[in-house]
Amino acid sequence: MGSGTFDHILERLILESTMGKLKLSISEDIKIHRIKRTIPGFAAKTVERLWRLVRPSAGSSATDPKPMVGFLYGSQTGNAESLARDAAALAESVGIHILLAALDEIDADDLLGLSEVVFFLSTYGEGDMPDNAELFWETLSGTEAPQFYGLHFGVLALGNKNYRDFCRAGKQVDARLEALGATRLIARLDCDVDFEEPAARWTRDVLALIAGENSLSANLNAGALDAQASARHRSFSAKLVERRRLSGATSDKDIHHLEFGIADSGITYTAGDAVGIRPVNDPELVGAIITWLGFNADALMDGKPLDFILLREREIRNPPVELVHAVAERTVDDNFRAVWQSGDEQALRDFLHGVDVVDLLSWAPPASLSAEDLLQLLKPLTHRCYSIASSPLVAAQSVHLTIGSLRYVRGNRAYRGACSSFLSDRLVKGTGADIFIVPNQNFRLPTDPSTPIIMVGPGTGIAPFRAFLQERQAIGASGRNWLFFGDQHHDSDFIYHDEILNQLRDGVLTRLDLAFSRDQPEKIYVQTRMLENGADLYDWLEQGAFFYLCGDAIRMARDVENALIQVIAQHGGMSNPMAQDYVARMKREKRYLRDVY
Ligand SMILES: Cc1cc2nc3c(=O)[nH]c(=O)nc-3n(C[C@H](O)[C@H](O)[C@H](O)COP(=O)(O)OP(=O)(O)OC[C@H]3O[C@@H](n4cnc5c(N)ncnc54)[C@H](O)[C@@H]3O)c2cc1C
Ligand SMILES: Cc1cc2nc3c(=O)[nH]c(=O)nc-3n(C[C@H](O)[C@H](O)[C@H](O)COP(=O)(O)O)c2cc1C
Repeated sequence: MGSGTFDHILERLILESTMGKLKLSISEDIKIHRIKRTIPGFAAKTVERLWRLVRPSAGSSATDPKPMVGFLYGSQTGNAESLARDAAALAESVGIHILLAALDEIDADDLLGLSEVVFFLSTYGEGDMPDNAELFWETLSGTEAPQFYGLHFGVLALGNKNYRDFCRAGKQVDARLEALGATRLIARLDCDVDFEEPAARWTRDVLALIAGENSLSANLNAGALDAQASARHRSFSAKLVERRRLSGATSDKDIHHLEFGIADSGITYTAGDAVGIRPVNDPELVGAIITWLGFNADALMDGKPLDFILLREREIRNPPVELVHAVAERTVDDNFRAVWQSGDEQALRDFLHGVDVVDLLSWAPPASLSAEDLLQLLKPLTHRCYSIASSPLVAAQSVHLTIGSLRYVRGNRAYRGACSSFLSDRLVKGTGADIFIVPNQNFRLPTDPSTPIIMVGPGTGIAPFRAFLQERQAIGASGRNWLFFGDQHHDSDFIYHDEILNQLRDGVLTRLDLAFSRDQPEKIYVQTRMLENGADLYDWLEQGAFFYLCGDAIRMARDVENALIQVIAQHGGMSNPMAQDYVARMKREKRYLRDVY
């Protein structure tokens, strides 16, 4: 942001606040938050002070006739963000004065300036906050968190019941706000993967409470939320135009490069976005389920063939808890019965790890559930996300993906992931798959092309960095690019090696550090390389480099963050807490960005 704009806003804030006629628009609120985030030191503090002075306060009328309602989201792949946007748009359409922001765009004590706050919050990792809610939660859960007496709030939590800590992030924020004195407007809603309909109902209820039922029902376009929901995931049948195996013949991995044609689709994307893809289930599994039910594939259920429903409309790989309960009631499998009756939740979770619907049904007598009941119990088949591995500047007519096939063995059965096997094995070249773009505003290249970037992306984590490098090359960005890549073996797992080595030769890639864990007796990972090159890494960070991380959320992402903190502490001469603060500041400044799964 140029200093002219900054001075102008400051000047206007001072003038308007002292004249007592401040009317902040939403975009100005957010601009102020952005200024606070991007301008270090004195200037940011000045803005902070002014913001506190002039921010609209609950129910205030002298400076701002309408109290402002916050629609705040913490979202990793955009679901919660979309719900917040839809709710805010609907609220605005009935005259509610809104503030729409990600949780990392506000400070916890900014909530004090709002009359009501509606949170839309997903859970990530292993019961963790999404990245853009992490710093907010740190403050909210800390000992110095403000009290929120007088604040009214509602929490819509998104999650997936197949995870142990279902909707944990939403539950934590909900409980913490209550503990800090805030009052619930409405009971928290915990949503599973089929969240659209319950979320729309809850949103309408909460808006009715905020606006007053009469004014809302007079003006509310009741179908608006449903229409927005269906527009959001409107997919395009994109033709698979290219698929080639990237992993070598001797690799334990099975990674493919795929290209989908999007010409004439109206689809546009930005480097850093992902796609959502709805798979078609494995016909073998569908056949086994139909046999268990004692039906024929073409039996009609509500006018649709049963096999069509099981192939395209129901999740059959990850069984829902409701089906686990139904099978437990009629099981003939001694092992399952014993674990179920033990009441040991962890033992049950371990027992069910990797189990699919076919396994589960095999533990109950064939046809002991009717087809209607089974279809009722199964969840809708949801899309899977894949980071786009191309830049639209290089591939305007297609999106490229890097797909790792999920395969594992359990007992004497071999299993394949529903979507990754659909994309790698079953989808025939020249035919279409339903795809839609999942925008990821939290994973973007720096707007200033001269800013250096550091990318850590082992395995399929390379995907968005292929897009970033294509983009930086296409625009002739002067900023330096450093890539950390790794996997098991150099010879079989160095995917995209020709492209990467060419980019290194041509100077597009300034530095490349490779880590192949199983090519030598001791394990070497990307974080090992970061530590080895710590002095340079710290130097890049000090020069304003953005740090990007993509790939495995559980092990790799944690190890890389720990290595980053270690590098900063060692080479910046800081204590561990100071290095953690340094990383927190990078997150706040949106210079530390993650796309992890
Ligand atoms: C934002 C985002 C970006 C992503 N980008 C990419 C990408 O670029 N490339 C890519 O390949 N993937 C990517 N993924 C992951 C991808 O979305 C899918 O999660 C992955 O392909 C698996 O889906 P599936 O349908 O094949 O597996 P599913 O059929 O859904 O099976 C998954 C289930 O299998 C079980 N399971 C998995 N491993 C084991 C095991 N070893 N033992 C027992 N059970 C097991 C678990 O219960 C798990 O829930 C991304 C995910 C997100 C959220
Ligand atoms: C890698 C990953 C980890 C997840 N971890 C959890 C979890 O621990 N608990 C939970 O309830 N849901 C979990 N989920 C499910 C998400 O919360 C759910 O898909 C949600 O709709 C995502 O919303 P978002 O797009 O706004 O982030 C996880 C999803 C992914 C992809």
